[in-house]
Amino acid sequence: MKGLYCKEKHSSGQDSRPALDIRHRLMRISDLEQVMKIERACFPSPWAKDHFIRELDLSYGYHRVAVMSSSGESVIVGYMVAWLVQEEFSIMNIAVRDDFRKQGIAKKFLQKGLAFARRGGAQTAWLEVRPSNIPARALYERFGFIQAGRRKRYYQDTGEDAIVMVRAL
Ligand SMILES: CC(C)(COP(=O)(O)OP(=O)(O)OC[C@H]1O[C@@H](n2cnc3c(N)ncnc32)[C@H](O)[C@@H]1OP(=O)(O)O)[C@@H](O)C(=O)NCCC(=O)NCCS
Repeated sequence: MKGLYCKEKHSSGQDSRPALDIRHRLMRISDLEQVMKIERACFPSPWAKDHFIRELDLSYGYHRVAVMSSSGESVIVGYMVAWLVQEEFSIMNIAVRDDFRKQGIAKKFLQKGLAFARRGGAQTAWLEVRPSNIPARALYERFGFIQAGRRKRYYQDTGEDAIVMVRAL
């Protein structure tokens, strides 16, 4: 998929590549085949497809995909899953296909997700991240998340702690 750059819309503003033409919309069951490919490529302990299916059914769930149209085909290039429960917005999952990274796609997910949370009355946004996940930590820090705590040996696959991050909305 490298090299599929379309007209203005989506840009990190950090390089000279033409911006991607990407839409964000609700995640659907029919997206899950592509979503699962990204999920498996991104995480040592990927969510199962059933996990995504359950998320799609939650009344408090927020689930979006970023879609690029290419030759009439819809290509999923990333997704975000979160929960909005009362005054808390919890980001559960966010991932971008590796060949579409560093082009502002995650930034757009966070901008839209946090705006949705604010409109829904959330006061704070929360997430957990692996200490070793430098790109994700940089992304969250860029959005004003700060470390609120640490969960010891939270990730069973590697035994890593989780850094808990929070920001006010
Ligand atoms: C983390 C991830 C979602 C970022 O997606 P992305 O679309 O490439 O991110 P963006 O292009 O929107 O970048 C936004 C900001 O994140 C930070 N960032 C993104 N990639 C980075 C990298 N490789 N190194 C350092 N900082 C990075 C930068 O602050 C960047 O802002 P800038 O471009 O203005 O400097 C992506 O790397 C990914 O899918 N990783 C695997 C899945 C994952 O770890 N998810 C997070 C779980 S907690």
